[in-house]
Amino acid sequence: MHQKFEFEYDLLEHMEQLSNEDQALLEAAKNATKTAYAPYSNFYVGAAARLSSGQIVIGSNQESASFPVGICAERTLLNSVGSQFPELSITTMAISYQPLGKDSVEPISPCGMCRQSLLDYENRYGAHIKIILSGMSGKVMVINSAANLLPFGFDGSILK
Ligand code: THU
Repeated sequence: MHQKFEFEYDLLEHMEQLSNEDQALLEAAKNATKTAYAPYSNFYVGAAARLSSGQIVIGSNQESASFPVGICAERTLLNSVGSQFPELSITTMAISYQPLGKDSVEPISPCGMCRQSLLDYENRYGAHIKIILSGMSGKVMVINSAANLLPFGFDGSILK
């Protein structure tokens, strides 16, 4: 039987079309790019999560002289939230970036490893994570669940 997988998302022309709460989260992600350690790629990524308590937590990419040891902003943040606030779920995550000496006017979207980690976190708390993707300016993508970014993702249920 032929099957089809599709999902819907919102593409906003400007960040001002976000709610005040989501704009504040995106601003926190943009600011978090300043905490990135990216001397090898010069690509500074910031992520910010709003927790079920309303609190905002940030993360950024942290690179290593041994390149594969470096970690993306999204997983820095997820691991930090999982360690510091294990009892709270993430309602929304915003991601932005600033490459050294280059424009940041298009959204970037999380790498495959981070998609798995986002899905793990959704499954762990049984709650969708809304994902907001944007450069420092320009259009904004809003995706209602991390699961949409990883079709047929491994959810670990077979391990139980
Ligand atoms: N990076 C992130 O932190 N998040 C993404 O969504 C894409 C890539 C980082 C990894 C590396 O430090 C740099 O950006 C260049 O790939």
